[in-house]
Amino acid sequence: MSIKVSNITKIYGQQKALDDISFEVNGSEIVGFLGPNGAGKSTMMKILTCFIPQTLGTASVCGFDTSEESIEVRKNVGYLPEHNPLYLEMYVKEYLEFIAGLHHLKNVKSRISEMIDMTGLQLEQKKKIGALSKGYRQRVGLAQALIHDPKVLILDEPTTGLDPNQLSEIRNLITEVGKHKTILLSTHIMQEVEAVCDRVIIVKNGKIVANESTSVLQNSQAENKQFITIEFDKETTRNLLKNVEGVFDAKNIKGNTWQIEVRTEKDIRPELFQFAVKNGLAVLTMHKEEQRLEDVFKQLTK
Ligand SMILES: Nc1ncnc2c1ncn2[C@@H]1O[C@H](COP(=O)(O)OP(=O)(O)O)[C@@H](O)[C@H]1O
Ligand SMILES: [Mg+2]
Repeated sequence: MSIKVSNITKIYGQQKALDDISFEVNGSEIVGFLGPNGAGKSTMMKILTCFIPQTLGTASVCGFDTSEESIEVRKNVGYLPEHNPLYLEMYVKEYLEFIAGLHHLKNVKSRISEMIDMTGLQLEQKKKIGALSKGYRQRVGLAQALIHDPKVLILDEPTTGLDPNQLSEIRNLITEVGKHKTILLSTHIMQEVEAVCDRVIIVKNGKIVANESTSVLQNSQAENKQFITIEFDKETTRNLLKNVEGVFDAKNIKGNTWQIEVRTEKDIRPELFQFAVKNGLAVLTMHKEEQRLEDVFKQLTK
């Protein structure tokens, strides 16, 4: 077990930020840690990286207890905190040397150049961190988190504020690194979860409300609702479509394209096809929309 959290509670003064949370993460899994702002994600990550102690419960990383064996935990975990705190006055290479020193690495030079290659910092390596764009600062943060080759990576909103190009580059890097490491990452971007995460843990008010593989969550039909988008070659009407068995409603999106709302578990695409045949229509396109993770998220956390 790479990460094991058992009955963790965290109370700040009067406020319970985590309420008896338990979960595990294994092997080379990439797990998305989701939840509305204030749900307790960063708090959990700070406990797992030995930055703050829990109030109750136990947590371990690679079998080492976060309260009792914090040095061992730190050797095994790489952490990119929220807002990625960096020394803006330091040069990229100088900063990485400093971090390598903290980890007592021996092969500092070669390790730094490996990190610079891996995170695509070649052209920026001689600049001051303060001169870098947000995307490149994130790469420095990732290089910092990876430099000691930890088994577990904890990334707190690693892609917040990046432009679409930077976003996909950082995502690719995470996916690549995730092949050999355990990653727990928090994010608000659902496409990111769909793209990179094997599993999703959703927290709300310090409690876990879902812990499922990404594909299972996507296919869990919220309120038995399905949507089918269908395009005919000619006009038809809402009332005619509503007569098809299983159709709850039909909305004309544009031209002869309709969005059909279905309130049954049955796949009614054959019925829609028959409907077209009976009414002398040709079906130009038809597809069943996958339930979006965003809807599941909203449903579970509202
Ligand atoms: N150092 C702190 N002192 C007091 N309250 C805190 C502290 N850090 C976080 N909190 C509170 O704990 C709750 C969870 O915060 P956080 O873990 O940062 O949530 P998330 O990362 O999911 O947005 C929030 O209500 C936040 O205000
Ligand atoms: Mg946070």
